[in-house]
Amino acid sequence: MNIVIVGQGAIGLLWYAHLQSLSDPSINLSLLPSTADKEQHSSQSLYCYTHFLGLSEQRYYQLATPQHLKQADVILICVKSYQVRGVIKQIAPLLNTTLNQKINKQTSIILAHNGMGTLAEITPLLNKEQSVLTLLTTHGCTRAMPYHIIHTGLGETHLGLVQGQQNSSAQKQLTQLLHRAMPQVIWQENIIEKQWLKLTINCVINPLTALHNVNNGEIAKPYYQTQIKTIIAEIVAVAQAEAQPLNASELQQQVVKVATQTAKNCSSMRADILAKRVTEINYINGYIHRLGMKHQLKTPENTQLWQAIMAKHPSKSH
Ligand code: PAF
Repeated sequence: MNIVIVGQGAIGLLWYAHLQSLSDPSINLSLLPSTADKEQHSSQSLYCYTHFLGLSEQRYYQLATPQHLKQADVILICVKSYQVRGVIKQIAPLLNTTLNQKINKQTSIILAHNGMGTLAEITPLLNKEQSVLTLLTTHGCTRAMPYHIIHTGLGETHLGLVQGQQNSSAQKQLTQLLHRAMPQVIWQENIIEKQWLKLTINCVINPLTALHNVNNGEIAKPYYQTQIKTIIAEIVAVAQAEAQPLNASELQQQVVKVATQTAKNCSSMRADILAKRVTEINYINGYIHRLGMKHQLKTPENTQLWQAIMAKHPSKSH
């Protein structure tokens, strides 16, 4: 199986390290750094991986070439939501297929990012038959510095189809392979429901921790619960308009559970704001705001959070 991982951030390198550890000769693994760092690191092929138990290893990675991309069975895209469209646009010309500047039909694309809304952006750039999957993971991983990642928390991964044809045997094979590399990996027939759960968690924890400059655990405190209830009620209303039924009280329990389980963590959005980086807010509360506009539903709490984060650091447009 030819696997290209796009993105040298925490999640990209985490999957690279775990798939590499299988030492499976039937896997041809390569890494395509995302546009931002490409020039800077084009000649570099070393990365450092600190295991969950603390052992650090220097390892080599194989840089993806146009040939790797042409022959890819799977392209696992581990970049921020606002970079996904750019990555697909960047890959197509590398394939140099004069008739059809699109990724091969047979290649499965896996999206692994926070937020929602990228699928609609990339669909026009893909073949109609293209399989697109979503990967949601709760593994904790941080990037200590460029090309050095630390696996900070064990979690699980959910994988499911969001576009294209069901191919049960290929999906089973892929799930088993990823599961061997970094368990648990669970195939989900209804990944959309899981995406909405993850989106809700991010709509609450990410902006609140960023605006109050607190660790995730604070969000579980009674002080935040009324505001959380309002954020979730708006999400449930727009999801309903999108024909996705959600349960508000179950969602609130899940949010509090994740905040408690990751109590000492700094959310990705808070980390982005502190480092003056672009945030994913347009694909989180901004996505809820846009859906509200589409369905003529008011989403004042999510809209206000989106605007407050935008005021701290203007994000790339969706
Ligand atoms: O974006 C993040 O930081 C994470 O998705 C989560 C679940 C909020 C935990 O920090």
